[in-house]
Amino acid sequence: MISARGVKKSFGSAVVLDGIDIDVSVGEVVSILGSSGSGKSTLIRCMNGLERLDGGRITIDDFDVSIPKQLAEARKRSATVFQLFNLYPHMTALDNITLAPTKVLKVPRAKAQAEARALLDLVGLDARADAYPAQLSGGQRQRVGICRALAMKPRYLLLDEITSALDPEMTAEVLNILGQLARTGTTMVFVTHEIEFARTISSRIVFLDKGRLIVDLPTDEFFAADGGMARPRIAQFLSKMRKD
Ligand SMILES: Nc1ncnc2c1ncn2[C@@H]1O[C@H](COP(=O)(O)OP(=O)(O)O)[C@@H](O)[C@H]1O
Ligand SMILES: [Mg+2]
Repeated sequence: MISARGVKKSFGSAVVLDGIDIDVSVGEVVSILGSSGSGKSTLIRCMNGLERLDGGRITIDDFDVSIPKQLAEARKRSATVFQLFNLYPHMTALDNITLAPTKVLKVPRAKAQAEARALLDLVGLDARADAYPAQLSGGQRQRVGICRALAMKPRYLLLDEITSALDPEMTAEVLNILGQLARTGTTMVFVTHEIEFARTISSRIVFLDKGRLIVDLPTDEFFAADGGMARPRIAQFLSKMRKD
């Protein structure tokens, strides 16, 4: 499980995460919603050990991301796909996908390539294995990015607004892949603005507001008429998101 307890993070005097507690168990799909600037990306970066915590603790299968010797183990268990395309531009789709498995996991090259081709097939890009990122559309690049993450066979997939730079058609392509992954039991932490999609794939919805986790509810309850104390804030957020 991914477990965060009392996570605090500031940039200068700005408190960006103000004591976040969250658990994500194997098999869950947890969507993180919240306005721009609420701390979603920072939380994902903290889970991946890309930001140093100012307080609290994050563990991935009991490996503490703040302890250098444990971070490598934590990172073997989780893989992140980011908002902006971060493929290596000088490498083909296939080479982008096989890089980490061959270098980090020491998978033999032929085996890594066969697995990468199977992943490209899964996302409908088997014919583009030898294309460079510049030769791919944004939606195709994000699908390669998903393959690259999956190639490490992570237990947890962290996804930070991976469709926010895409047009609606490309967004649909990528969400379709995530839907398939959710149905096959991939554990995901999914930061998104795609509220209706989050509703269809998530077991739980978490809502961040100004660095605080103010709602953590099963999906049905989040969208139900009575969200308890946080209801007015959720309603305001949902109505704004649906207008945008
Ligand atoms: N490296 C950084 N240095 C300074 N401020 C940052 C940095 N990263 C994020 N922030 C600030 O932290 C706040 C939360 O950012 P972020 O986690 O990206 O929010 P979200 O992903 O929810 O939009 C914002 O006010 C942002 O400007
Ligand atoms: Mg963000």
